[in-house]
Amino acid sequence: MLSAHLLCLCFSLLASLQVEITPMQGEISVGESKFFLCEVVGDAKDIDWYAPNGEKLLPNRQDIIVNRNDESSSTLTIYNADVDNAGVYKCVAKNADKESQGTVNVKIFQKITFKNAPSPQEFNEGDDADIICDVVSSPPASIIWKHKGSKIQVTKDVRFKIMGNNHLQIRGIKKTDEGAYTCEARVMARGEIDLKIIKVIVNVLPSIRTRQSEVNATADINQSVMLACDADGFPEPTVTWARNIIVLESDDKYSLNDDGSELIIKDVKKVDEGDYTCIARNKAGEKEEEVSLNVFVQPRITYLDNQTASELEEQITLTCEASGDPTPTITWSFGRRFFTDGEQSLDGNVMVRSHARVSSLTLKYVQFTDAGQYLCTARNSIGQDQQTMYLEVRYAPKIQGPVTVYTWERNAANISCEVLAHPGASVVWFRDGQQLPSANTTNVKIYNTPAISYLEVTPDSQNDFGSYNCTATNLIGTESKEFLLIQADVPSAPAIERVEPFSSTAVVEFEEPDASGGVAILKYRAEWRMKGQDWTSREYDAEDGLSMITIVGLKPETFYEVKMSAINGKGEGESSTPLNFKTAPVLSSVTPTFIPSTSAALREPSPPKLEGKLQTMGNALKVNWIKQDDGGSPIKHYLIRYRAKHVSDWKPEIRLPHGSEYVVLSSLDWNTEYEVYVVAENQQGKSQPGTISFRTAAEPTAIPDTMTSGSGLGTGAIVGILIVVFVLLLVGVDVTCYFLNKCGFLMCIAVNFCGKSGPGAKNKDIEEGKAAFIKDESKEPIVEVRTEDRTPNHEGGGPTEPNETTPLTEPDGKIMTEDKSIAPEMETEVKKAPTEVKTVPNEAAQTNGNESKA
Ligand SMILES: *[C@@H]1O[C@H](CO)[C@@H](O)[C@H](O)[C@H]1NC(C)=O
Ligand SMILES: *[C@@H]1O[C@H](CO)[C@@H](O)[C@H](O)[C@H]1NC(C)=O
Ligand SMILES: *[C@@H]1O[C@H](CO)[C@@H](O)[C@H](O)[C@H]1NC(C)=O
Ligand SMILES: *[C@@H]1O[C@H](CO)[C@@H](O)[C@H](O)[C@H]1NC(C)=O
Ligand SMILES: *[C@@H]1O[C@H](CO)[C@@H](O)[C@H](O)[C@H]1NC(C)=O
Ligand SMILES: *[C@@H]1O[C@H](CO)[C@@H](O)[C@H](O)[C@H]1NC(C)=O
Repeated sequence: MLSAHLLCLCFSLLASLQVEITPMQGEISVGESKFFLCEVVGDAKDIDWYAPNGEKLLPNRQDIIVNRNDESSSTLTIYNADVDNAGVYKCVAKNADKESQGTVNVKIFQKITFKNAPSPQEFNEGDDADIICDVVSSPPASIIWKHKGSKIQVTKDVRFKIMGNNHLQIRGIKKTDEGAYTCEARVMARGEIDLKIIKVIVNVLPSIRTRQSEVNATADINQSVMLACDADGFPEPTVTWARNIIVLESDDKYSLNDDGSELIIKDVKKVDEGDYTCIARNKAGEKEEEVSLNVFVQPRITYLDNQTASELEEQITLTCEASGDPTPTITWSFGRRFFTDGEQSLDGNVMVRSHARVSSLTLKYVQFTDAGQYLCTARNSIGQDQQTMYLEVRYAPKIQGPVTVYTWERNAANISCEVLAHPGASVVWFRDGQQLPSANTTNVKIYNTPAISYLEVTPDSQNDFGSYNCTATNLIGTESKEFLLIQADVPSAPAIERVEPFSSTAVVEFEEPDASGGVAILKYRAEWRMKGQDWTSREYDAEDGLSMITIVGLKPETFYEVKMSAINGKGEGESSTPLNFKTAPVLSSVTPTFIPSTSAALREPSPPKLEGKLQTMGNALKVNWIKQDDGGSPIKHYLIRYRAKHVSDWKPEIRLPHGSEYVVLSSLDWNTEYEVYVVAENQQGKSQPGTISFRTAAEPTAIPDTMTSGSGLGTGAIVGILIVVFVLLLVGVDVTCYFLNKCGFLMCIAVNFCGKSGPGAKNKDIEEGKAAFIKDESKEPIVEVRTEDRTPNHEGGGPTEPNETTPLTEPDGKIMTEDKSIAPEMETEVKKAPTEVKTVPNEAAQTNGNESKA
């Protein structure tokens, strides 16, 4: 009703007042400012502005200011426009009763504004990412999203979705979705367009791997161990280490590398054992892993002490303690004996018990032999430790040593009182209750060593034999013992059990005497002889277990008897009953059919044994040899060489046939040392030489007198020569008888054996080996050879004759051996040869085998 009234008024006053507003239209973007000018035509007293709500705008407002410029205009200024400010504003001019007005419609609109579209926006991989782009505008804008230059087609990838609020949702965002996204807003009404580039970052939760989940280390050896974790993620995670929640930092104990992935624990100790946590952390979150450190400890013996016990005590326990991880096992050893836990020694004396780190060894009853070093060993999987302790056992003296001691008058003997004691004992000797040495006993001496006290007694008379008392005393006790000094006797006779004869030697097997007489047997004496001749004797050192001796220098095929006696310090005992034996023939093999089947057994002959005999002339030597083992193949011949020792050249070699037994070297230089080598040769080769040296007699000034010759013929030789002369005389008579009277011994032989009936038969017996062959009138020797043709008795598998080198015993008797100078009186009988032939050196001997068999 009011407006109708005003409208009526207005029309009535048109003529007087006119109002015009410039600009006539107003569009203001939010936040902008704008002003409007209201001009009045006519005389106006008041010019007022009215807000859209009809209120008159007063000048005191801040946001909308009204300002009267002059008589006819007023300005309306809208600062920092707000949508509330939109509407129709009125400008009213009044003059007394006249009034006029103009209006202006002010429109306020919202420009495209990104109210909330931050960049970058970060998400964790796998999250449903909500990319925010809040836009305000009026009218509302439409939003499109672009990525990598093109519009996101939500229909193409179901993970993408434009939400009702225009946010872009990416379900399960991936690292590959990372990048710049464009949020573009458009307002159709104004053709307005604006865009915002939003950087999307996809963070990745760390992943973590331990290089080793378990690390082993040894304590107390200044060892450093490294624990390591490798982490991945986006952004690059940081790695830290913690132990029991406490974060570890580089210091004396720990050191970390730049990225923290490696933790080094220095100088590992047992306390460092446990779990270590490595933590990887970034914006997306954190992950952790555990590494276990096992710390082993080498065994170490922590307690072991020396102990002292005494034999009187009940028992003693030795204790050994050890540390280590794993818990060590403890063992004991004493000398070569080893004891382990729970073990009881065979005698039940030693008992070992172990509990955790302690082991105890108990000796139930302590003996003095238990004293010494005990070794305790603690052992676990990574090592061992050893220590020794000493068990001292104190005990009263113990006296040992042979109770009976044998000696003979004036021979000093030691009575030894061996004392075992700890602590050491002092020893005194008594005789008949009186301490030695005493005034009455000048023939005793005492030698004290730490372990033995020797009482040296030199008996003067029967009185000095008898009992002696050794008394040993130490802190623990006293012990005494009686020793007996007994008069020694000579040994009883040994018993010859068997003799094994060879051609030139014999092995005598015997049994020790039943009684040694109380003292050691020092020697054995063997005596042997050909029937009816003098005894040859030789002594043999009595070695331990000696039960065989070898007698040498025998003649082949000869009857001997042998007896033996034993010798000790007191003297020589009785001889055994003699035993008879016959030496074997000389071994030889003439018949080639006798070659043994096994040629492997064949070898060179043994060297012949030589004996030399200076001839009466004094510058001739007869060298006999005794054939030795032929090595399994018959001896073909002998090779003889000789020379004066001071000359280097040998005389020409002499070769003699197999049956030869000697050679006579004559016309030698006077008073000269000669050596002779004789070598036997068979199919296999040459033997070692048998050797002999001798010296020729001094040159006689006159014709040597055979009776008193310096060459010293023995009485035997003289008797021999007389016999020969006598026989020759008899033979001469006999021959004369034979030829003249057809009677006598020769006749008898001829008739009975040869069937010869008269003279005319040649007397062969006279063919003595005196004929000589002189070569080139030089001083070459006249060589005389005797050959022998005998039944072969070589046996391939037979026993070998022992010789000087056969190790049965070392003779210490004085027997002439090959290499000794020949003394003329050492003549020995040579077996009669069936044939004697004269032969030439280097030629086969002309043997007469048929005759020999006759
Ligand atoms: C660590 O020691 C234990 C026990 O001796 C063993 O079983 C394990 O194999 C060892 N580990 C390493 C990595 O040597
Ligand atoms: C332990 O080892 C480190 C290096 O491995 C060394 O520098 C240090 O001197 C050693 N310490 C001892 C006590 O041996
Ligand atoms: C134990 O005894 C031995 C031998 O008697 C000695 O060398 C060592 O020093 C002793 N040890 C101790 C700890 O007494
Ligand atoms: C007795 O023993 C002592 C000491 O060992 C020694 O000197 C002495 O020669 C011995 N006497 C005899 C006869 O063996
Ligand atoms: C010591 O010798 C004297 C005289 O030779 C003798 O009278 C005495 O009984 C002897 N004493 C002992 C303890 O044999
Ligand atoms: C040895 O002599 C001591 C001192 O005279 C004596 O006490 C002890 O009984 C004697 N021992 C023996 C075995 O005769």
